[in-house]
Amino acid sequence: MKSFTGKVAVVTGAGSGIGRALVLRLLAEGARVAASDIDDAALSETAAIASAGERLRAYRLDVADRDAIYSHADQVVADFGQVDLVVNNAGVALKGSVREMTDDELRWVMDIDFWGVVHGSRAFLPHLVASGDGHLVNVSSVFGLIAVPTQSAYNAAKFAVRGFTEALRQEMVLEGTNVGVSCVHPGGIKTNIARNGRTSNPADAAEFSKSIDQVAMTSPKAAARTILNGVKRNKARILVGPDAYAIDALPRVLGSLYQPLVIRAAKRQLGQ
Ligand SMILES: NC(=O)c1ccc[n+]([C@@H]2O[C@H](COP(=O)([O-])OP(=O)(O)OC[C@H]3O[C@@H](n4cnc5c(N)ncnc54)[C@H](O)[C@@H]3O)[C@@H](O)[C@H]2O)c1
Repeated sequence: MKSFTGKVAVVTGAGSGIGRALVLRLLAEGARVAASDIDDAALSETAAIASAGERLRAYRLDVADRDAIYSHADQVVADFGQVDLVVNNAGVALKGSVREMTDDELRWVMDIDFWGVVHGSRAFLPHLVASGDGHLVNVSSVFGLIAVPTQSAYNAAKFAVRGFTEALRQEMVLEGTNVGVSCVHPGGIKTNIARNGRTSNPADAAEFSKSIDQVAMTSPKAAARTILNGVKRNKARILVGPDAYAIDALPRVLGSLYQPLVIRAAKRQLGQ
């Protein structure tokens, strides 16, 4: 996909952060957009900012709801006639150690961050194949490249997204389709991800909600530009932000010996 002009793009989690920035940039580059989110108010705000008339349609969608995603795919095709680009972007964050978190918390993360991506990929794939110039983008994280303490649920979901997406990219080639597939690994992006997140220990809530503001290096607008440039180049792995490049290098250079570095950094943070 060398240009987005005249293409139909689907973006989940479009009410905030990276999703909203993707919607605005896709519209600016001439696409028509099906934007969805579980948060109606946030999605309406995206639509108001975009003020794109018929070129943008907003849909309430919970990506954890399998049936809803398949109905959504049918609805988008009925409304727009085609789908060329799908960005499975919706996601949530949880802070909690393996011993602290409940099964329900782990399931909440997996249902949205992993299964939401799986359903979004499988429901739209036939339409992306039919497009003849289709592209699928699944949003993982740098935490799909390295694991860190208190992020086991998120790590599990984002590593799983990476494995699923990389296997799918290879299948699309072997099956002779013209569907490009990219896995996105953002570093820290200044969004509402932590504010919208949950903590297993209520005492962590205030600090966690501020955590992203302290470390994020990249704006959602810059993230959207990097992601869409990666699509145009059909990149298998799209790294977003200088921190993402540094983190990507860690396990490639050090193998599993990146873990002592992470432990040392975590200890420093805990004042140990
Ligand atoms: N912000 C970062 O630093 C960062 C880093 C790496 C990866 N990511 C990933 O980027 C993606 C976008 O996150 P963001 O940073 O823009 O966060 P954000 O919280 O600003 O936006 C996420 C959007 O997803 C929506 N959402 C949540 N649950 C949903 C559900 N069940 N169904 C549909 N929509 C739902 C939220 O309402 C919100 O509008 C996520 O997959 C996240 O894991 C973010």
